[in-house]
Amino acid sequence: MTVTVVVGTQWGDEGKGKIVDMLAEDADIIARYGGGNNAGHTVVVGSETFKLHHIPSGVLYPDKLLAMGNGMVITPEVLVGEIEGLKERGIEIGPHRLRISNHAHVIMPYHQAIDGGGGKIGTTGRGIGPCYQDKAERTEAIRMGDFVKPGFRNRLWEVVEAKFPVLSFMGVVPEGLSQKAYAALLYEQLSPLAEFLGPYIDGHIPEILNTAIDLGKEVILEGAQGTLLDIDQGTYPYVTSSSPTAGGACTGLGIGPTRIDEVTGVAKAYTTRVGNGPFPTELTDELGEKIRIVGGEYGTTTGRPRRVGWLDIPILKYAAIINGLTQLALTKADVLNGINPVKVCVGYEVDGRRTDAFPIDDLDRAKPIYEEIQGWRDASRIEGNFRRYIERIEGLTGVPVTIVSYGPDRRDTILR
Ligand code: GDP
Ligand code: IMO
Ligand code: MG
Repeated sequence: MTVTVVVGTQWGDEGKGKIVDMLAEDADIIARYGGGNNAGHTVVVGSETFKLHHIPSGVLYPDKLLAMGNGMVITPEVLVGEIEGLKERGIEIGPHRLRISNHAHVIMPYHQAIDGGGGKIGTTGRGIGPCYQDKAERTEAIRMGDFVKPGFRNRLWEVVEAKFPVLSFMGVVPEGLSQKAYAALLYEQLSPLAEFLGPYIDGHIPEILNTAIDLGKEVILEGAQGTLLDIDQGTYPYVTSSSPTAGGACTGLGIGPTRIDEVTGVAKAYTTRVGNGPFPTELTDELGEKIRIVGGEYGTTTGRPRRVGWLDIPILKYAAIINGLTQLALTKADVLNGINPVKVCVGYEVDGRRTDAFPIDDLDRAKPIYEEIQGWRDASRIEGNFRRYIERIEGLTGVPVTIVSYGPDRRDTILR
């Protein structure tokens, strides 16, 4: 059977949730490997819409095992809310099938407070950067394993002692609160959540996954964010703090690269980005606004309008290299129904020279070169101009488009 990584090829929100849900039907395990509740993965089944921030997108099938890897950062309050919300909607979820790595890091209330405004990067304001900062710094971090242990109170006191002067200076500590009172307040807020999550925490995610792979189980490794938001390979500094690219699946879950069979890159038929940073094919005109409205391009997590632009082939080629893509899932082509012509960026001009590669270090000087392609009326059938669009993407990227999605619902999908 197969181990497949599902990865975003652009700046996130490509439709990973929909594709993972669709693939999950035939899978045994769905494991998420990075990010936290900066992610918003939408799954639509009939009249029901689910927006998932932490929990893997295979959750709607009652018999699947779900894992949240050590590469993730978790806001306990949000995760508990997500579990309760799913239960209320009749989804059977509990420690018997949701396992959370004891090495995942806890996003603390002060992480979120520090990140609140979004800053220059235009973050989601969920505390992602400050939490990964503490993870890398090492002495002031709290992992899910520490969080649910009886020693949490002492650990929290230690961490608050170290952080108190800075947090007071930054105005994160409520006015007039002593160090002791602040630690007590955090403990009061967090300990019921720790108690709730205790049974879900697992020190054996790598063993569980590797054994399942040995037994020939079907495993999906769900990426969050996208290739260009990767801290190492993305449009730095306008990136997130984790490794959304395929390599992150190995470090974020504890499996070796030799165990992965397929890497499916999810690509929107156009491009979007939320937050700040370069976006060469951005459309700031009426057509961009039209695509935003038709495509419902508003952030799943923050509700911010997403910036919209044409499909960028050099980005997909870049994603193919960085992730080792074996296939592409093309989503939201239906949003372009009736637009004629459709433009595709096939290369760039930088300082008078043409390049077919994504000029990631020269984006301030890069001018997209477009090719016009005749539009289509109905992306639910792969024929005519729409087929030519798909074949052009395959020809230029060298990666086969094996999944075509033409609507938010699970069923609005064609396998090629
Ligand atoms: P993710 O973060 O990659 O999982 O993507 P999001 O869920 O944030 O954003 C994708 C949005 O597009 C969601 O609202 C999906 O329901 C929707 N969507 C996914 N695939 C399609 C598609 O093929 N067509 C249309 N019209 N909407 C889609
Ligand atoms: P999914 O998994 C789109 C963006 C933010 C910001 C930058 C850094 O739904 O595709 P952060 O809060 O991570 O420090 O913000 O990354 N960003 C996303 N954009 N989809 C996401 O997740 C994102 N997660 C982070 O908008 O530009
Ligand atoms: Mg999203």
